[in-house]
Amino acid sequence: MDPHSQSTPETRAESRSLDDIVFRKLNATDHAAFEAHLLALDPDSRRSRFGMTATDAFLEQYAARCITLNAIIHGAFLGEELIGAAEMRPVGDFIAEEAEIAFSVRQDWRNCGIGSVLFARVLRSARNRGFVRLYMSCLKHNAPMRALARKFSAEIHVEFDEAVALVEPPRQTIISLLREVFDEASAFTAIALDWQRRAILGREPRNGDVRPQKPAA
Ligand SMILES: CC(C)(COP(=O)(O)OP(=O)(O)OC[C@H]1O[C@@H](n2cnc3c(N)ncnc32)[C@H](O)[C@@H]1OP(=O)(O)O)[C@@H](O)C(=O)NCCC(=O)NCCS
Repeated sequence: MDPHSQSTPETRAESRSLDDIVFRKLNATDHAAFEAHLLALDPDSRRSRFGMTATDAFLEQYAARCITLNAIIHGAFLGEELIGAAEMRPVGDFIAEEAEIAFSVRQDWRNCGIGSVLFARVLRSARNRGFVRLYMSCLKHNAPMRALARKFSAEIHVEFDEAVALVEPPRQTIISLLREVFDEASAFTAIALDWQRRAILGREPRNGDVRPQKPAA
């Protein structure tokens, strides 16, 4: 089966709204959510994400290693569930100028713009940390990932079964630094309001409840 057959532009999930999603970076307490997100990927998505067959055992080890290393992981949360992740890992030593990036979005939330928001955030994090080049490798036939990379002006090189996208983030500015700090603060405010609402209402949010402010994109 074509791994992307359910995420063509024609079948875009109109009913899903990014207003329901909180975007924030993951920290050590998000290990279980990250692991659950990876384990929920079907075999085709695992192959698209890792370029190989990924067993549950591999994903469990990967999640444990990843969250403690110097990777920065941006997440898209629907309530407490992680439905999208963008990983950025420096290549080489401590003062690396290059990083590798990788993306995964839960199947039923694809083609709604989550990958695009995560890509923009990764790019901004890279810019703010002085990375000058980002690499992303995917299978040659991974049309959604290639479309996503092209949106952010990636140069794409294809070799055998693999496509490598190269993105050069712009230089950091005080505005890009402040935006990153502000977005994280807004995300934690949204979470705090959500906890408070659940504590007061004693239930999950429903339509008609006042939503917490969505962090600025
Ligand atoms: C690649 C992936 C992260 C994209 O996430 P997403 O949330 O669906 O991304 P978006 O909705 O922001 O954008 C997807 C883009 O691909 C395009 N697209 C989707 N299916 C497509 C297809 N079959 N052919 C061409 N373009 C396609 C969409 O039109 C959209 O572009 P647009 O915004 O210009 O219309 C997601 O498909 C995924 O998790 N795939 C499995 C893991 C993977 O392949 N990772 C990449 C290797 S690291």
